[in-house]
Amino acid sequence: MPEVTKDQVLDALRAVKDPDLGRDIVACDFVKEVKICEGTVGVTIELTTPACPVKEQLKSQADQAIRGIAGVSHVDVTMTAQTVGRNVGAQDILKGVKNCVAVGSGKGGVGKSTATVNLALALAQSGAKVGILDADIYGPSVPGMLGITDRPMADDDGRAIPPMAFGIKAMSVGMLVGEDAPTIWRGPIASRLLQQFLGAVNWGELDYLLLDLPPGTGDIQLTLTQSAPLNGAVIVTTPQQVAMRIAKKGLKMFQQVNIPILGLLENMAGSVFGTNTTEKVAREMGVPFLGSIPLDPKMVESGDLGVPLVALDKDAPGSKAFFEAAAKLASQLSISNLQEKSVQDRPKQVLLAEQRPPKIVWDDGSVMIYDARKLRLACPCAGCRDEMTNERIVNEQQIPMNIAIAEARPVGRYGLSIAFNDGHGSGIYTFNYLRELGQKL
Ligand SMILES: Nc1ncnc2c1ncn2[C@@H]1O[C@H](COP(=O)(O)OP(=O)(O)O)[C@@H](O)[C@H]1O
Ligand SMILES: [Mg+2]
Repeated sequence: MPEVTKDQVLDALRAVKDPDLGRDIVACDFVKEVKICEGTVGVTIELTTPACPVKEQLKSQADQAIRGIAGVSHVDVTMTAQTVGRNVGAQDILKGVKNCVAVGSGKGGVGKSTATVNLALALAQSGAKVGILDADIYGPSVPGMLGITDRPMADDDGRAIPPMAFGIKAMSVGMLVGEDAPTIWRGPIASRLLQQFLGAVNWGELDYLLLDLPPGTGDIQLTLTQSAPLNGAVIVTTPQQVAMRIAKKGLKMFQQVNIPILGLLENMAGSVFGTNTTEKVAREMGVPFLGSIPLDPKMVESGDLGVPLVALDKDAPGSKAFFEAAAKLASQLSISNLQEKSVQDRPKQVLLAEQRPPKIVWDDGSVMIYDARKLRLACPCAGCRDEMTNERIVNEQQIPMNIAIAEARPVGRYGLSIAFNDGHGSGIYTFNYLRELGQKL
């Protein structure tokens, strides 16, 4: 029997691709340990989140890949995770917290708090350390939903220790300021209060801290998003037209301040409002779609009971949807964090000159050239794509041969909004998409 080498194992593992990151697990540096003892190979694969939605898939693919090497008789794949976080600045305010994620909504009553609590529990069940900060000064409801009646204890430095419930830590502004928080707080006051609040809590080590924001897209929300060091935001919406319109406002608010949108989450689906609206808007806006939580009377019951649905009945359709959405959220967060780290994924310069094809100079120094007409035809906006099949529905004959880009404007930290001189300007091209569409010079 030939002796199996570490290089052989790594080579074989290069066939295993992380579908979210679009690269193989060796290139992603996920393979942490390779042990070979005669025909037995043991590897440890470390993912970027314990809530990885494709953990089992990657494990079995790795197992198979190694089994294919001549001389291998036994394979042992261990999956671990080390949550990636990003230094978002002002870290000292939330030391020990790897990821801080805002959960927002355009309007109240769409299930933002319900979603925050169930997502948090789902993340915790994957093995992550999770906390919730209920920053909804108008209607702090997280403690009630988790059945928490304890007031926080103080540590030696006088900082509040969050009470625990269902394996997660939870603090509410309401716990410190009382339930009758003045609704007249203006942005700066609310912001100062939240900052004080953030600094006054001893969270310990957390993989994820979810922030339940007050509904709306006004001044208060805007300042709050800037007072916490956010890694990203989730927008909860219901499928109604009105709610969607307001959700779009919420999206724009986060994009204005360069906070990555981790996704849109649809709640109360399957009702008279119809389906797929949120997914369509997500595509239109160029942001991930985290999934659809069905309308379920049990959700109200569990909220009143102080036991989130995910804990009450993990097999309920609503719970399953939350588990899936939490996994997607975690993987979007990993993607966003890693993208932030590898600067090479961003355009440094967009060069538009008359009579010349557009060019993008990327941060890694590579230059890509574009065919403006091809870009126009590849527009991902809802007007150019079939909402169900995602197929191109733009009429090729109607696009002028000499079409050009009129303007390219950055959207958030992930894409460009491109306007053409035929008046069409609703497409947002993510950086990844632009990398696919360009031709390397
Ligand atoms: N998927 C759902 N199905 C049924 N009821 C829901 C669902 N999501 C939330 N609810 C209920 O809707 C109400 C508002 O939810 P809540 O999370 O408090 O909204 P928000 O925080 O956005 O104001 C609550 O009574 C909650 O139990
Ligand atoms: Mg709420």
